[in-house]
Amino acid sequence: MSFIPKLCTNAVISEFLQDFTADLRDEMQPMWERVNSVVTPLEWPFVAPRIKAINDLKKARNAVILAHNYMTPDIFHCVSDIRGDSLQLAVEASQSEADIIIQAGVFFMAETSKLLCPEKTVLIPDVEAGCSLASSITAEDVREMRRKYPGVPVVTYVNTTAAVKAETDICCTSSNVIDIVEGLGVPRVMLLPDEYLASYVQSLTDVEIIPWPGRCEVHEQYRAEDLVNYRQSDPSVAIVAHPECPPDVIAEADFTGSTSKMISYVEDNKPEKVFLITECSMASNISAQLPEVEFVKPCNVCPHMKRITLDNILISLANMTTEVTLDPQTADKARRAIERMIEAGTPKLTPEVPLRQAMNA
Ligand code: 13P
Ligand code: SF4
Repeated sequence: MSFIPKLCTNAVISEFLQDFTADLRDEMQPMWERVNSVVTPLEWPFVAPRIKAINDLKKARNAVILAHNYMTPDIFHCVSDIRGDSLQLAVEASQSEADIIIQAGVFFMAETSKLLCPEKTVLIPDVEAGCSLASSITAEDVREMRRKYPGVPVVTYVNTTAAVKAETDICCTSSNVIDIVEGLGVPRVMLLPDEYLASYVQSLTDVEIIPWPGRCEVHEQYRAEDLVNYRQSDPSVAIVAHPECPPDVIAEADFTGSTSKMISYVEDNKPEKVFLITECSMASNISAQLPEVEFVKPCNVCPHMKRITLDNILISLANMTTEVTLDPQTADKARRAIERMIEAGTPKLTPEVPLRQAMNA
């Protein structure tokens, strides 16, 4: 018996939605148990048919969904096949056997997947899902930096366009940035474009870091004085920050790391109360599995990550839109910078073959 009819004005979506019948409710019960601390009972009859439609269509098309840690819990816990930080998504994309990759993340992540899987169809549900770091620097800016600092290697954060990566010696993410910078074995590197990530790395290495004035519009909003005040009012709180935060914010943190390292810190230490200094969905995603930990709000939302929704994932799979394509020459050069980063994490390149040597090979 149907007790909640499908409610949707979009023809593409409604074609795939089932009514929320008792049978569907029972079938979706295991999913509901995964997310019922972060999705309300009122929302579930509308969310569940979308999840079911996406998962069925995904199977029919031999597609996988790669979801960044900043996706909302319905996407993160109920439709994604691979979850993680930028590095984990890049590595998993390179190993996937699916024909189609749906990138539940921002555009630079979809470009990275396409670079690593040129033979696969890579789809992004919203091409407008950008990133303030990726838009802070152009390929010509990198060429200009090379003219200014001849012979100094260029390391670029993976949060950049393929055109910028093509001008780069090697990429990095917030997970591996120290190893990449130090692995080059040189006294000076350019680390572009996040000035706060660059200053964080500078605080941990003797390598001289030349930065670029890009910033993450989400992490730059956090203020050190708010953290100081919060800790004074509640000294038991653990403060865990992403390295895209300003230096005085990082100085107040008990731990700093990539999104996945932040998650591991909370899982391993299970603090009674934790303040995650990063995008809001991280707290919701972890709290669904760690009810014993209290997550402090407020947090900041990334408007680009939040462009990806269950509805546009379903449309993307149904219509095979929007396909990510790259200019082959740019792609060849950009791919080398990403592959060097991934190889740098494998035992065959370290420590027997120094990174610099591998780059020149
Ligand atoms: P991670 O590599 O830590 O997942 O960070 C990506 C990102 O966009 C953070 O704002
Ligand atoms: Fe870019 Fe910041 Fe959004 Fe991450 S959180 S995608 S760095 S704008």
